[in-house]
Amino acid sequence: MTKSSVSDYKHLVVAIDGPVASGKTAVGRELARRLGWKLFDTGIMYRAATWHALRKGVHLDEDESVTELIRDSEFQLTPHSDDESVELDVYVDGDNATPHLRQPEVESGVPTVAAIAGVRVLMVEIQQAQANRGCMIVVGRDIGTVVLPKAPVKIYLDASEEVRARRRAAEQNSGTDEATVLKATQRRDRRDRGRATSPLVAASDAVRLDTSDLSLEQAVDAAEVIIRKRIPDLAPTETTASAS
Ligand code: DC
Repeated sequence: MTKSSVSDYKHLVVAIDGPVASGKTAVGRELARRLGWKLFDTGIMYRAATWHALRKGVHLDEDESVTELIRDSEFQLTPHSDDESVELDVYVDGDNATPHLRQPEVESGVPTVAAIAGVRVLMVEIQQAQANRGCMIVVGRDIGTVVLPKAPVKIYLDASEEVRARRRAAEQNSGTDEATVLKATQRRDRRDRGRATSPLVAASDAVRLDTSDLSLEQAVDAAEVIIRKRIPDLAPTETTASAS
């Protein structure tokens, strides 16, 4: 196992991985706010790649064509214009893809694009460069295993299938019944865990955090404790200062 240390990266990074609706993005966003860091949700890159392929009329199941398109395109990540936001916007060839990332066609096509080995290689390179641009919570499926294997803190968030399906149904707010969302969640899990390249798996040195019975605030508190154990000299935040 590679021994990680806080000095392996130019800036502090925390890797958060986990299955769909385990709370990664919500927990990551709140942690970034507390610490004054940025949130880099790497899912936006696979979504932007999918949106771009769709707008260019490239068939998503043609691995080589999609990889070639992505290789020839320029991806840029920039802090969201709202000062309060901790999130990044993603641009492809100068166009802001961010407003399009939750479109139904992107939602259904993204697992196909994320399973293309050539696309992953290109995305991982950009993600590694981005992670060196500042203190960041980096969220995804392969962050602790592939993108930032030497991250000083790795958290694997999980929750029961039922809880994740319930959260997803609430998020989507589309009136779809929970049984249908549960089936879709299970399908998504099978694709994320079963793909040949970088399947979703917890890094051997990740701390597992089950959020099934935790509120968002409790999950963020627990994650912050994990981070502070690994990086004890981190500056206090409002939350930790008021607790002491
Ligand atoms: O987290 P999300 O739903 O925005 O992710 C979109 C898709 O991208 C999903 O199919 C998982 C995939 N993904 C990935 O394979 N690796 C990552 N680091 C991030 C997301």
